[in-house]
Amino acid sequence: MTIFKINRGMRDFLNKDAKTMKSIENIARKVAELYGYEEIITPVVESFDLLSAKTGEEIRSRMYAFKDLGGRKVALRPEFTASVARVVATTLKNKPRPLRLFCVGSLYRYDEPQHGRYREFWQSNYELIGTNKPQADAEILLLTNSLLDKVGLKNYAFKIGHVGIIREILTQENCKEEIQNKVMQLMDKKHYSEAINLLKSIGISKHCISTLQKLTELKTKNVFTTISKIGKYVKNYYKAVEAIENITEILNLIVESEKRIDLFFDASFVRGLEYYTGMIFEIFIPEINIALGGGGRYDKLIELFGGEPTSAVGVAHGIDRIMLAMQNQKILPKTKKRETVVIIPIHTQLKKEVLQISEKLRSTDLSVRAEVMDRKITKALEDADRRNISYAIIVGERELKERAVVIRNLKTREQRIIKKEDIAKTLLNGEI
Ligand code: HAM
Repeated sequence: MTIFKINRGMRDFLNKDAKTMKSIENIARKVAELYGYEEIITPVVESFDLLSAKTGEEIRSRMYAFKDLGGRKVALRPEFTASVARVVATTLKNKPRPLRLFCVGSLYRYDEPQHGRYREFWQSNYELIGTNKPQADAEILLLTNSLLDKVGLKNYAFKIGHVGIIREILTQENCKEEIQNKVMQLMDKKHYSEAINLLKSIGISKHCISTLQKLTELKTKNVFTTISKIGKYVKNYYKAVEAIENITEILNLIVESEKRIDLFFDASFVRGLEYYTGMIFEIFIPEINIALGGGGRYDKLIELFGGEPTSAVGVAHGIDRIMLAMQNQKILPKTKKRETVVIIPIHTQLKKEVLQISEKLRSTDLSVRAEVMDRKITKALEDADRRNISYAIIVGERELKERAVVIRNLKTREQRIIKKEDIAKTLLNGEI
C-alpha cells in the first residue's frame, strides 16, 4: 500500500500552529478594518503572463506554472500585488480613489525550502492605490507597525530604501533597464562587487562606480544622518536627489506620527520584485535573519495591466514568519477563551437527546462536543480531561424524566442536577 507523504516545502498545520496562524490572520483583518482596507478575494490560479510581468527573475523562474486543460499557461500566485493591480485596472477602474484593498491567503513559490522559507506560505497584503503622496507611504509603514505591535512582537526594525536612488543614477548614466534589473538583483543578494563589475563591463563612468561604492559602504546609526550623507554623494544626479527628498518627507511623517518606530536606511537595499519605483522596506527582528514582511511603492504596474496611470504603495506580511518570530520571542497567540463542554449519555439509546441538547447549547455560542463513540462514561470523561475540556453534561434516563441532566465542572469536580433549560445560563455565567 502506498503511504503518501506531504510535498517538499509544504506543511500541515495542526491544532496549536493552525490556531496561531488564524490568530495572526484575525489581527491582520482587524488592522485592515482599523485603517479602512476592504477585503477582496482573488483566485489562486492566474495567467502566467500577468504574474510574471514585473515580478522579477527570481520569482518568475520559481513559479508553479503549468498549462491548464484548455491549454492556457497559468500559475499559482506567488504574491497578491499582480492580482490586485489586475482588479484595479479592470473591475475597479472607475471607482473613486484612493482605494484601500486587503487580501489574505496562501501563495506558492518553488524556493529551496529552509528555515522560514516554504513553497506554500501565507501573507496578509495591503494596497493603497491612487496616490503618490508621502502620507500614503507613511500609512503603509504605520499599518505594518500596528500589526506587529498587536501580534505582540518586540524589537522589530524597519529597513528602508528607495529604488529611485540607484535606478535614477543608472538611468542618468544611460544604463538600459535590463542591465539595471540585473544590477538590482545582484545588489538584492548583496553581491555588490559583481554588480560593480557588470557596470564596469558596459563602460559606466568612474564617477558613477565610485558613487555606488560609497553608497554600499555607508553605515551610520541615525537614519537622517545616513540620508543627508547620501544626498551629498548623489548631488549630481538630480532625480536621485528627488528620491532622497521623497524619503526624507516620508520618514519625517513617521517621526511626527509620534509612534516610536525603529528605522534604518540602506541606500544599496533593493528588493527582488521589479515593479517598485519608490520607497521600499522590509521588517526584521534580532532573533531571526529573515524578513517578516516587505513592500514599497509601485507607480507603473497598474498602467502596465491596461489601467490608467495609477500610483500605488503596499505591503505583504509573511504570516508563517510572524508565527516563527512569535515562537522565538515566546509570545502566545491572543485567542478568546471559549467554554468547552462534552455531552455524554449513560447509554447509547439516549443519543437523540444528546444531539438535541448539543444543538441547543451551540445556539448559545458554547463549544460542544457530543459523545460519538458509544464509550462508557468513565472513558469519555478521561478523554475530556486529556483534552482540557471545562464541563461535562451527563444525560441519564432518571434525570431526563424530570427534564434535567447532571452537570459537572471537570476542573473542580463539583457536580449537580439541573433543569435542561438552565444548562446554558449556568455554564455561561460560570455558576458551577
Ligand atoms: P515579498 O518580499 O516577496 O513581497 O514577500 C513579502 C513577505 O512574504 C516576505 O517578507 C516574507 O515574510 C513572506 N514570504 C515571501 N516568500 C516566502 C516564502 N517562500 N516562505 C515564507 N514566507 C515568505 C511581496 O510579496 C510583495 N507583493 C509585497 C508588496 C505588496 N509590495 C507592494 N505591495
